[in-house]
Amino acid sequence: MHETLELLNTRRSVRSFEERDIEKEALSLLKEATLRAPTAGNMALYSIIEVQDQEKKDTLAKLCDNQPMIGKAPVVWIFLADMQKWVNYFQESGAVQRSQTPFREPGLGDMHLCLQDAIIAAQNAVVAAEALGIGSCYIGDIIENFEIIRDMFGLKQYTIPACMLIFGYPKGKGPVKLTPRCPDESIFMKDGYQEPHLEEMKIAYALHEEQRRATKSLPYENTGTLADYYYLRKHSSAFMEEMNRSAKVMFETWKKG
Ligand SMILES: Cc1cc2nc3c(=O)[nH]c(=O)nc-3n(C[C@H](O)[C@H](O)[C@H](O)COP(=O)(O)O)c2cc1C
Repeated sequence: MHETLELLNTRRSVRSFEERDIEKEALSLLKEATLRAPTAGNMALYSIIEVQDQEKKDTLAKLCDNQPMIGKAPVVWIFLADMQKWVNYFQESGAVQRSQTPFREPGLGDMHLCLQDAIIAAQNAVVAAEALGIGSCYIGDIIENFEIIRDMFGLKQYTIPACMLIFGYPKGKGPVKLTPRCPDESIFMKDGYQEPHLEEMKIAYALHEEQRRATKSLPYENTGTLADYYYLRKHSSAFMEEMNRSAKVMFETWKKG
């Protein structure tokens, strides 16, 4: 049991990989553990596209806010929220006809469940990979450029990217430098939402700010705060603008086709 906790507490994202494939046996164990993830109603409301084509990987690297490590990762998995396969099954099996009720098109609730399924499976993959000595990193930018991604991978109305993971053996085996986390009392709230404001946020993210100050990565010549950092680098960035545009199209496609 403590081994599992140790694994969870020492995992970190890996962005630089050895130039070798993941061993066949390890890949098969990784897939097995991924699929053991809990899934709503045991319907496996997700699919995983394993991107093997180098050109596609390189294109993804560009589309996902120019992150060349995607092209260099031996394994790239796109986790799709997938209701399409069940829509097809319901219709093609005659289940809809036999029910003698009009077909209910999947809505945002279905979409949410599919996204949960896909992301839970992805996190199983992250943990299993760690146990196998394989590094991984989520790529949030997979939800940008939806129309291009949709055409590139032949996505249908009820399939949308939930998240993406890249995997590979970590390059260099130096000591693990962990990123800071918020203290538990700033995340866990008793019996209701307690809205964090300035003072609570300063305390919650004090370690993050300290680390950024030490590495001189805060804005305004390192005199800025963590709020300045994330506001400028993330919240008001071009990639967040694109992510929001793209996600809107994704949701509209699901609802309207
Ligand atoms: C939803 C999500 C999206 C992420 N997207 C990216 C990404 O596009 N590029 C990247 O280098 N890291 C990405 N990460 C990794 C985070 O930056 C990383 O988890 C965080 O900085 C904490 O570091 P750690 O995982 O090493 O503890 C993402 C993580 C999550 C959960």
